[in-house]
Amino acid sequence: MDKFLVRGGRPLHGKIEISGAKNSALPCLAATLLSSETVTLHNVPYVKDLITFRRLLEDLGATALTPELRTVKVNASNVQIFEAPYELVKTMRASVLALGPLLARFGQAKVSLPGGCAIGTRPIDLHLKAFEQLGAVVSLESGDVVARAPKGRLVGNTIEFEKVTVTGTENVMMAASLAIGKTTIKNSAQEPEIDDLAELLNKMGARIKGAGTDTIEIEGVEALGSAEHTIIPDRIETGTFIVAAAITGGELEIKSCDPSHLTAVIEKLREAGVDIEELNQSTLRVKRSSGGLVARDVTTEPHPLFPTDMQAQYMALMTQAEGESKVVETIFENRFMHASELIRMGADIQIAGNTAVVRGKTQLMGAKIIASDLRASASLVLAALCAEGETRIDRVYHIDRGYETIVRKLRSLGADIERVQDASGSVHETVA
Ligand code: EPZ
Repeated sequence: MDKFLVRGGRPLHGKIEISGAKNSALPCLAATLLSSETVTLHNVPYVKDLITFRRLLEDLGATALTPELRTVKVNASNVQIFEAPYELVKTMRASVLALGPLLARFGQAKVSLPGGCAIGTRPIDLHLKAFEQLGAVVSLESGDVVARAPKGRLVGNTIEFEKVTVTGTENVMMAASLAIGKTTIKNSAQEPEIDDLAELLNKMGARIKGAGTDTIEIEGVEALGSAEHTIIPDRIETGTFIVAAAITGGELEIKSCDPSHLTAVIEKLREAGVDIEELNQSTLRVKRSSGGLVARDVTTEPHPLFPTDMQAQYMALMTQAEGESKVVETIFENRFMHASELIRMGADIQIAGNTAVVRGKTQLMGAKIIASDLRASASLVLAALCAEGETRIDRVYHIDRGYETIVRKLRSLGADIERVQDASGSVHETVA
């Protein structure tokens, strides 16, 4: 398995282009299953999860061509298989996003029940309950979720989610697009990726209103057609690079981003002593303020509040801030794995339930550490960039799932980081 070797202490300087949002490209790729015509997606990030999802589409019988690296043209007119196998689902939970489209267009779907992952059990009970409310019959058959629409088509209904679920909202939005009649989703997730998916679906002929708010209305239609769509920038990659500038004491110009998608992150980081200047609607100039970093508490919440996907990166930053900060994780039950590795580097962090108390500023020292999940990996890279000496990070395949050519991008900003590749199929960084 690939490793990163990082020699810390070098402030990052320069310009960085943000890639397309992994968590928008995944549901948008799934949405192509709803149509028998060609759907073209631009600005798809070159990351492992999207490569895997393209393979899933092809396994189902669709064609998923990449005329250029970050463009995917999907035609699902020849889909004859309605099953996402365990071998694939176990590597990528987002495969559950195939459920809604397959069920809506073909009246049947079979997806291996995704296991949990490092950050939590990650159930999909809310997805399945919503499908039943749309008229599907859902059963569990030797580890597979089997869903069928008895009358061949789903029927619109009012769905009220007892918990905010991002992919649950996306799955129901896609399923309801082809249902008979109207569906109202209440307590829907409001992430920018939901809005982006709704925009694609409406371009394909769906009739969706209210995406991005807590209530979404969908008028089902007979069929969806072709569309061309550009995926929004990745707000979590943007937040990660803002932290990279602040934690190394450098200055970055972050381009092709959308600051309006991470206002809670920008606000919190400004409070914590990060200068963030919006040069225009897609460019930020960021650096640590002259007064230095100061400890500030944070609690993760559904959008538009502070995102759980920035919690690990923020914790790394707080190890370099003067004072005591509380980091409270309310979304996932086990999302502090990065803390133990940060402690091994010299951080002062105490965990009590879903609260981590960070006392800074501590000088981090290079060490041999292990990445556990996607955002924890980012947190450990950030810590290594400001640590004294060399850090070796194992299992970096986690970071390849969600950050496009992260080593290449960091080296272009002056970081002393290299990928030690082994033979197994790592995502190479030689992309254009
Ligand atoms: C999406 O996961 C993202 N993944 C996650 O990003 C992100 O952390 C998460 O939303 C929260 O923002 C994608 O979009 C592909 P949820 P998702 O359903 O949809 C519970 C990353 O780093 N829940 O909003 O799986 C669940 O256990 C990844 O890019 C149920 O109980 O998250 C969690 O506690 C990590 N039953 C909470 O709700 C359900 O049926 C929120 O989960 C569904 C969810």
